[in-house]
This record gives sequence, C-alpha cells and structure tokens, in this order.
Amino acid sequence: MDLFEYQARELFARHGVPVLDAYVVRDPAAAREAARRLGGRAVVKAQVKTGGRGKAGGVKLAADPQEAVDRAADILGMDIKGHRVGAVMLAEPAAIEAEFYVSYLLDRTRRTFLAIASSEGGVDIEEVAATRPQALATVPIDPQEGVTEDKAREIAAAAGLPPAAVPVLRALWRVFVAEDALLVEVNPLVRTADGRILALDGKVTLDDNARFRHPGHAGYDVADEGDPLEAAARAKNLNYVKLDGSVGIIGNGAGLVMSTLDVVAQCGAAPANFLDIGGGASATIMADGLGIVLGDPDVTAVFVNVFGGITACDAVADGIVQALARVELSKPLVVRLDGNNAELGRTILDAARHPLVRQLDTMDGAAAKAAELATAG
Ligand SMILES: Nc1ncnc2c1ncn2[C@@H]1O[C@H](COP(=O)(O)OP(=O)(O)OP(=O)(O)O)[C@@H](O)[C@H]1O
Ligand SMILES: [Mg+2]
Repeated sequence: MDLFEYQARELFARHGVPVLDAYVVRDPAAAREAARRLGGRAVVKAQVKTGGRGKAGGVKLAADPQEAVDRAADILGMDIKGHRVGAVMLAEPAAIEAEFYVSYLLDRTRRTFLAIASSEGGVDIEEVAATRPQALATVPIDPQEGVTEDKAREIAAAAGLPPAAVPVLRALWRVFVAEDALLVEVNPLVRTADGRILALDGKVTLDDNARFRHPGHAGYDVADEGDPLEAAARAKNLNYVKLDGSVGIIGNGAGLVMSTLDVVAQCGAAPANFLDIGGGASATIMADGLGIVLGDPDVTAVFVNVFGGITACDAVADGIVQALARVELSKPLVVRLDGNNAELGRTILDAARHPLVRQLDTMDGAAAKAAELATAG
C-alpha cells in the first residue's frame, strides 16, 4: 500500500524523523484557519499518490491565509497525471539551504536492503540516476544490523550529506523496520538556514503481507481519488487499471490479461484497461467487470479472453449470459474461450444469440477482431 505524503509524515513524526507542522484540508475555506495556525504563511501541497506534484503546479507557497485559501482552491480538484486532488496539506514553509535525497528500499535483485542517498535532492531523482549516477550513493544494509550509527555515517559520507543527517537516517530506518515498509523515501531532506535537518516530503510503501501486524494501518487505506472507474472497480474488489486505448479487456489471471494487452497492441490497437476477474469468474463478477469496462467512454469494443481452469468455460459463459441480462451492451463484445469445457462454453454463448457478441477460437484471432472492431467503432 502506497501512502499519501501526509500519512508518511505522520509515521515519520512517530519515529522521531523531524517534520514541519502541517494540516490536511479538503475544502479551500478550511485552509484559512490552517494557515493561521501555521503562522500565516504556508506551503499548499496536493495530496495524490503520484510523483512530480511540484512540476504539475500542485505545490504552491501562500504568503498569508487568504492566499492559502486561493491556492487550495486552485489545487483541490486539479488533475495530476490522472489523479484528482481530493485533499491538500498545508505545511509550515522552511528556509531551505540545501536539498538532499534519501531512501531505504528492498532490492529483490541483490537480495538486500539498500540505502540510496544523494546530495542532489529536490529534483527528479530518476534524472539524476540517468544522467549523473555518480551523484547517487548506494549502500547495502545488513538486515540483522540495520542502520547503526556507523552505517548512518557511512551513508552520509558516501552521499555527501551533513553529519547532522546521521540521527535522521537512523530514525528513517526505524520507520522502515517498525512499520514494515518496502520503501521509505524523502525527497527533499533539507538543511535549513538555522542548521536543522527536516523531511519536507515523504513517500512510504507499506508491505501488504505484514498488514496483520499493524491494525493501526487500516486507517491509511483511503483510496486515492484517482480515476473514477478505478475507484468504482476498487469498491467492487476488481483488479482494474485504466489505460488510454479503446479496446476494453477482461480476462482471468493476471498473466493472461498481461499477454492479452500485448497481443491487442500487436494487432495495432491500444488496450483501454487491465482487468483481471480472477479464478472464480461468477456472473456477478463478470457483470461488475463488464459494467466497469463499458462505463469507460473511450472503449469502442470489448475483448473477453478466458482460459477455463478450475472455473470451467461453461460457468464463465453462463456468467457472461447472465451479465448481459444485467448490463446493457452497447459495444461489440469479442469472446475467446479456451481450456476446461471450452466447447460447452461456446455452445452456451452461441445459444444466447446476442447480436453484439461474437466468438473466436484463438487468442490471436480474437484480439485481431477486437482491434478491428475498436478501430472501426
Ligand atoms: N514546507 C516547505 N517549505 C519550503 N519549501 C518546500 C516545502 N515543501 C516543499 N517545498 C519545496 O517544493 C519542492 C517540491 O515539493 P515536494 O518534494 O513536496 O513535491 P514534489 O517533489 O513535486 O512531489 P513528488 O515528490 O510527488 O514528486 C521541494 O523540493 C521544496 O523545494
Ligand atoms: Mg518530492
């Protein structure tokens, strides 16, 4: 689970990582009181689970409470890379003297934890990594030892961080371990004019497998107001990701759905989404899935690609037939059934004689047909 900046800030504060005073508001009027409490001036920051908020105009300095209301009004409702801003955080402004980058993460390839740190923070760290890799220090961390005083000094020295950052590096490691995080990132970590080291922005990914150990994290599970279709899908427990093409995709199993996206792309069309309805493709799940996919105005044709396993194709075909009785189908639907009981499934679908449904036997053939219909539509 990825956290919002304000949630990451909360965890930082809990473990002694120095952060600035801040308030979260969801309507512009509330920004006035928040700015007042911060002493008048405030940095107004979009709370969305995506990077590059500053560049997109989602981080603005307000000189007084009225300006804070105005900036909050500008930023709330803004679209940042497909994420609608539902909340802003007002933070105390810092007098920044230098900006650094620090992160802890699990490096699966190297089978270790890593600290990545740089004295060139604040900016796009991916760009630093690509153009000036020598400006990034990468230090492996022994999971048994963790970030000891010595390790923290080693990281600070390797990255060119001031010695004052050492206790902050140790506190950030406490966040990583105590909260069962997979990523803790601070960009920027700053040194202020009065010599303080502060985390001005935080990104934390929690390990979902460790959820049972952290009942307190349940409150963090608030959906990002991203795409409304994604939100609707989440509410129905569907594994849906909006993409920007026109072929709606429904499949069972993440691997099959990923390959379906590839095959559709190979046929010259672009997939409109990823949707994995999982193993037990019941009528309800199929109807929910079709409802979401057809609710996307960019979709001009839908491709249902199912490989029958434990849930056999006849059950899936029944699901599609029942779904068609619940959802008004307005766009062509191409179905490919294969695997367990494929013949029976095809017979059931044929018998339903839906004018907008057509079946093809192969994945390639069906993808080509769906691509053709989507392009024509
Ligand atoms: N409280 C603050 N006081 C002064 N300047 C700030 C404050 N918060 C952020 N800034 C400035 O704004 C820049 C961008 O802010 P921040 O890092 O929070 O957003 P971002 O990097 O654009 O977002 P993301 O990390 O999602 O890409 C910082 O590098 C810093 O220079
Ligand atoms: Mg940042």
